[in-house]
Amino acid sequence: MGFKIGLLGLGTVGTGTAEILLDPTGRNPLLQEIEIYRVGVRDTTKPRTVDLPSTAFTTDLEAIATDPDIDIVVELIGGLEPARSLILKAIHHKKHVVTANKAVISRYGDEIFTAANEAGVYVMLEAAVGGGIPVIQPLKQALVVNRIQSVMGIVNGTTNYILTRMQAEGADFAEVLADAQRLGYAEADPTADVDGLDAADKLAILASLAFGGRVKLEDVYCEGIRQVSAADITYADRLGFTIKLLAIAHRESPTDNPDLLQLRVHPTLVPKAHPLASVNGVYNAILVEGDPVGQVMFYGRGAGAGPTASAVVSDIMSIAAILKVEEIEAQQFNQQKVDVPHPLLS
Ligand code: NDP
Ligand code: HSE
Repeated sequence: MGFKIGLLGLGTVGTGTAEILLDPTGRNPLLQEIEIYRVGVRDTTKPRTVDLPSTAFTTDLEAIATDPDIDIVVELIGGLEPARSLILKAIHHKKHVVTANKAVISRYGDEIFTAANEAGVYVMLEAAVGGGIPVIQPLKQALVVNRIQSVMGIVNGTTNYILTRMQAEGADFAEVLADAQRLGYAEADPTADVDGLDAADKLAILASLAFGGRVKLEDVYCEGIRQVSAADITYADRLGFTIKLLAIAHRESPTDNPDLLQLRVHPTLVPKAHPLASVNGVYNAILVEGDPVGQVMFYGRGAGAGPTASAVVSDIMSIAAILKVEEIEAQQFNQQKVDVPHPLLS
């Protein structure tokens, strides 16, 4: 059995995803069973760098979300609409969904996961936080027995890239932002990066997983890096600090009021000896503190085609692996029905 993918979006992350799926050699053999069946884009005449048949392309994304031949819909168009409606449509048509869209998940996660539970399908979102860093799965599985005290880190690659270059080279804000856009790190509307909204979306997702329940985006205090000047960076440096845009979620008081959370995104003076101070460029790091595990730090490239596609394809593979096991079990069950004679007939 092969698995058919409907890819919504072939931009930075969609192209990275297609590159992995089209070059399975030396990777997990299950990849060879995954086929990019349809690709939804805004402009079918745009030149593409991946080798896919022109017949696979369409601007009718709803047709992909509802196509009965497609097993997994991979949403990589970004933004709120039509991404939210397409994800819901795919779920209602019994398709599993993989998305990198933190904006949709942080705002409409309840609606999407309720619909997925009712339809009996999976929705996976590893790429939505931390690019290539596996952090969603560990919070859902390996760390799940812990009482989490705090989750904090650098979760936006664009702003970390800008702050790092401003500090290292005294580079101009606008110029470095343009570089981040050219490298495919920034959102389609980079104000989401610069004003801290992208980090706030990611913090809402991380905190929902880490502390349980539903952390709403509007509960996150959010301040971006627009006001950080070259002079701020120089003075911070002289005083032994580096300025980082941190996303912080922690229990107000672990003993007195464990259910009250502080949630904030803002530029922060980080002492140079702190592990987050040396996370530079497009790299992200997320520091989780839990009882009894203590501190665990996740580190890696937080944006860009390759790292993000690594997370997207891992999610696709996880779903394919589950479907494969279900298929084998169904085959064995059917075989047993044929092979084992009914006791009353023997
Ligand atoms: P891009 O802007 O590079 O690509 C978007 C793609 O979606 C394009 O192929 C575009 O078509 C298509 N598209 C967008 N809107 C529509 C629409 N209304 N109808 C049809 N097609 C549409 O985005 P990215 O690849 O950078 O980001 C995709 C998602 O991944 C976003 O949710 C983003 O937040 C997330 N993400 C991005 C990361 C990164 O490093 N870039 C890292 C982690 C997550 P066309 O090509 O024709 O213009
Ligand atoms: N624009 C985002 C960033 C992409 O710079 O971190 C990764 O989510």
